[in-house]
Amino acid sequence: MRVIIEPDSAAASRRAACFVAELVRKKPECVLGMATGSTPLLLYQEMIRLHREEGLDFSHVKTFNLDEYVGLGPAHPQSYRFFMNQNLFSQINIDPNHTHIPDGRALDFEAHCRLYEQKIKDAGGIDLQILGVGSDGHIAFNEPGSSLGSRTRLKTLASETIRDNARYFGGEDKVPRLAITMGIGTILESHRCLFLAFGPHKATAVRDTVEGPITAQVTASALQLHREVIGLFDEAAARLLVRRDYYAEVEISQSLLEQGRHRELGIGGV
Ligand code: PGA
Repeated sequence: MRVIIEPDSAAASRRAACFVAELVRKKPECVLGMATGSTPLLLYQEMIRLHREEGLDFSHVKTFNLDEYVGLGPAHPQSYRFFMNQNLFSQINIDPNHTHIPDGRALDFEAHCRLYEQKIKDAGGIDLQILGVGSDGHIAFNEPGSSLGSRTRLKTLASETIRDNARYFGGEDKVPRLAITMGIGTILESHRCLFLAFGPHKATAVRDTVEGPITAQVTASALQLHREVIGLFDEAAARLLVRRDYYAEVEISQSLLEQGRHRELGIGGV
């Protein structure tokens, strides 16, 4: 995993938006995997700014969200469909028909999940998946113990997640118990992941994900098997990483490569 540590979440989110914008400019009909929660909010604000001020064009972009609460329709203010419409889709020029989110009111969940996977395949797969992480190390709603080969399915939320999300619902008893979520196997098939984590409450999850063993107890650790993950953290979330010096050296090399300063890296030397 490439690890980029920025002083704060605003800087990290701007950096994340650069990766999104680079892809959208290079491949206007790209497929983005979207996340909800507090983590991607600044990234979405920056994407909106890029659209408004720099004309970043989302008209051909397709999106697939990671998950949705079971039982909540699109008009429910805590549904992820509502969140996405409010915080991103209504503020950029994306075609609403190109945006996909599991339907929390589906009755035949198995068929719905199968179809969701099929739609991702038909779209050519996810080019760039945006990910946050739960304080228990989950990605999407793949709670600890989820199969690392799992696909889109129904999932029971862990008590830690219900506690974390109670603030949005006005109490733990109001948080849905079930969600539809892409599986770890689904996420691992994306071409590139942007893994974001901000704040001191994410420090343990970040350490376990990046430097811990791969385990279903920290489902984000499965990202170590992914072909290309870029971790973007603020100082607080990165505070427990022990190989920070190395990650900084990698970024120096990366920057020299991007600037074409090959000789300084010993490329083409005698
Ligand atoms: P957060 O949630 O972005 O609101 O911290 C992340 C998650 O639970 O996956």
